[in-house]
Amino acid sequence: MNKITKIKGFADLFPPESTVYVQMEETARQVFSAYGCNEVRIPIVEKTELFARTIGGETDIVQKEMYTFQDRKGRSLTLRPEATAGMVRAFIESGPSQGSIAKYFTLGPMFRYERPQKGRMRQFHQIDVEFFGPTTPQADGELILMLWHYLTALKLDNFHLEINSLGCPKCRPQFKQKLLSFLQHIDESKLCADCKRRKQTNPLRVLDCKVSTCKEMVASAPKIIDSLCLECQKHFKDVLAILDKAGLNYTLNHLLVRGLDYYQRTTFEIIAENPNIGSQSAIAGGGRYDGLVKNLGGPDIPGLGFACGMERIALLLDKQNNFKQDFFLAVLSDKALNQAILLAQKLRNKGFKGEVSFEAKSLKSQLRYAHKKEVKTCLILGEDELSSGVIQAKNMETGLQQTIALEDIEQALGINF
Ligand code: HAM
Repeated sequence: MNKITKIKGFADLFPPESTVYVQMEETARQVFSAYGCNEVRIPIVEKTELFARTIGGETDIVQKEMYTFQDRKGRSLTLRPEATAGMVRAFIESGPSQGSIAKYFTLGPMFRYERPQKGRMRQFHQIDVEFFGPTTPQADGELILMLWHYLTALKLDNFHLEINSLGCPKCRPQFKQKLLSFLQHIDESKLCADCKRRKQTNPLRVLDCKVSTCKEMVASAPKIIDSLCLECQKHFKDVLAILDKAGLNYTLNHLLVRGLDYYQRTTFEIIAENPNIGSQSAIAGGGRYDGLVKNLGGPDIPGLGFACGMERIALLLDKQNNFKQDFFLAVLSDKALNQAILLAQKLRNKGFKGEVSFEAKSLKSQLRYAHKKEVKTCLILGEDELSSGVIQAKNMETGLQQTIALEDIEQALGINF
């Protein structure tokens, strides 16, 4: 029979790889709740129109990376390529009142039809945070500090923050004009095929193209921060002042426009410098998206957020062995099997973690399994032990084996002789 294999760009996660995902998720819950930011769960599938209207019809994501399909009623649906669109939709449907502040996070799989490589998957996972309501630069500051807090709590190091401001609908059109006239005067043959298209449809995106010839062409492009209106200038200056006061280092990146059209004012990315991560070094990205809630039919409530890429962070974390167990209960005779199951259950009820053998096999193979699982103590139950009401306890580190009375097991496991 043919084996059915998984789809390219999709991964199965087993322990110990999966333990780092658990660690990322639990740390997120812990750190974010200290900021009043709590978890929400939203669907993985949304109406296609939501993404086109949120992310932008001319973005790479919407143009070529979405998993879009028709359901049985002929409706066009899409597997979410990111979480902000769904979070904003859900927020609007929750009936927010003007002036209130809401801070949410969500986590789970996202889907983008990109070329799979290290740190880039077609199904990947994000931890996504959205703050709804605040207008002040202090909120941008706190959002970035919270992200920093999170990454530090994961014990990551060697990463830095890049930041930019994309202005607002008042000042960005002027910048776009300046950029267009700059782009009209460059040698178009040196632009990649995507940028030739972007030049017409979404010129800002030419700025952060990763193709080296495009990078060279835009090195001398006008800077958006030189075109900001007074309000946007002040907002950006105040965000940077908070980061300065908090002692958080950053790099101004004038080419950081991000791949989603909803951003206004502050945009940022966290870049990992660890060589393990390869070329996909952006481990988180986000920014402010005032106007988006309104554009999706909600009240005029501003928003800002970020998302961390879990696959990329996983490349930087040590795999934890969270599954270390206190005991393995080896069984040497069929008669002892039932007794062993009940004994293991008793120990688990007392708070010990452990497994029990489901069949009476050779002691050697059971000890090999206990060793592989890195258990502290292997308990051994055979017919002799059963008839005398004792058990053997073998310390797997020292190799020391003792016969102990059944009622002393807890103590033996606790003090780990
Ligand atoms: P994004 O920059 O598209 O932003 O994605 C955020 C992070 O997800 C990236 O920095 C990267 O670490 C990870 N990521 C993206 N694509 C892939 C992939 N194919 N494979 C593995 N990891 C990937 C957003 O998604 C925005 N929704 C963030 C946001 C929230 N802005 C405001 N609120």
